[in-house]
Amino acid sequence: MPPPVPDVWTPNSWKAFPAEQQPTYADPLHLEQVLDQLRRFPPLVTSWEVDQLHDQLAAAQRGEAWLLQGGDCAERFEDCEAESIASKLKVLLQMSLVLVFRSRTRVIRLGRLAGQYAKPRSSPTETVDGVTLPCYRGDLINASRFEPGARRADPLRLLRGYERSALTLNFVRGLSAGGFADLHHPENWNLLFDPHGPRSDDYQRLVGALREALAFMETISSTAREELKRIDFFTSHEALHLDYETALTRHSVRGVGFYNLSTHLPWIGDRTRQIDGAHLEYMRGIRNPVGVKIGPSLEPDQLLELIDRLNPDRLPGRVTLIHRFGRGKIEHFLPPMVEAVKRHGPPVLWVCDPMHGNTVVTQTGHKTRRLDDVLDELALAFAIHHRLGSQLGGVHLELTGENVTECVGGAAGLSESDLHSAYHTGLDPRLNYDQAMEIAFALADHLRPTAAAG
Ligand code: PEP
Ligand code: CO
Repeated sequence: MPPPVPDVWTPNSWKAFPAEQQPTYADPLHLEQVLDQLRRFPPLVTSWEVDQLHDQLAAAQRGEAWLLQGGDCAERFEDCEAESIASKLKVLLQMSLVLVFRSRTRVIRLGRLAGQYAKPRSSPTETVDGVTLPCYRGDLINASRFEPGARRADPLRLLRGYERSALTLNFVRGLSAGGFADLHHPENWNLLFDPHGPRSDDYQRLVGALREALAFMETISSTAREELKRIDFFTSHEALHLDYETALTRHSVRGVGFYNLSTHLPWIGDRTRQIDGAHLEYMRGIRNPVGVKIGPSLEPDQLLELIDRLNPDRLPGRVTLIHRFGRGKIEHFLPPMVEAVKRHGPPVLWVCDPMHGNTVVTQTGHKTRRLDDVLDELALAFAIHHRLGSQLGGVHLELTGENVTECVGGAAGLSESDLHSAYHTGLDPRLNYDQAMEIAFALADHLRPTAAAG
């Protein structure tokens, strides 16, 4: 039996529950000082923006929009640079353009960025050549260098993480607000675009068609031009470090409750979604739309309990379930969950993460993912939802706009022997630019099969 849900939720009520994956700080007083500072800093996002995303996710749940969520597995402080941020935004914009234009689907763009700095780990320690140190938990907590000082949890990193989130968000907001994101000038987004890349002809054709469509719309509507100069772009990250998330949880000035204002959509990871755990207790009380990663270890009954707990009022758009089973497991694990939610649950938005169940380690010790497995899991996800009268409402990807060599396969034919040449990820292997675009074209074909040749 799960423990009874406490009557009163507060931003701190999670403290009475076991919290997985939290760091231990040697100096609790220092931590408290830092948290106090964070509590006084301005929020990173506003409750109005959060509500806007909530509404859009509700629309996605009704089949009126599609969620494209993507970014690094783990952002690193050192990558808080113009080029890295702009190239992530660019690839997400280009992917959304492919989806919108080829499948005629409205797309919600949600970055895994501006706060994706804390990581759950499979072991609290790491041993190398007989030396054991605390594991690396993400730049919000410690540094990845294998040295005792670097692996110590440092409260100041919470401030550095907040600041880098603010810097990233500031740049993303500027780019989204005009100029860069202006649909009339998609060439602005082409930073790394390889004119000979596998999908470049398709993409250039699409851009040409887009220009014609825009010209047409502007002929019939004078307001269209202004509206198409900017885009909506939202942020998300795993809400793992509960003290940090709580310090940025604020009572809305409208008096309607508490919001996590460190990000638009916080999610709970597959390792911290225990029904009697602190993360679920924290998430149930905030007014943001929330994501939950679900993998093979979750039973359908537990899933129902979990979504009831998160969404007792059955609000549309409140819960996004991000399933991550792996190509070989999705057929076994997804159908019972979809059936259970259809029969009993409040409505949810179903999203497929085709990355985390498909990680393999090569003989050279590189963690990688095969593009074919990713594409296959996505195809299976579409097929299973369709077969069961449900609907896949989005995708969750680990990607970068840069030319890394972390995942294998794809039209450019990246193989295991290429992995060492540009393997830069902080943790999990990300799709590179070409691979991400290949997925966007495949998704567009799934969303509107008859448009495949368009
Ligand atoms: C992640 O998204 O990087 C992650 C750790 O995923 P999951 O919680 O699904 O394992
Ligand atoms: Co990851």
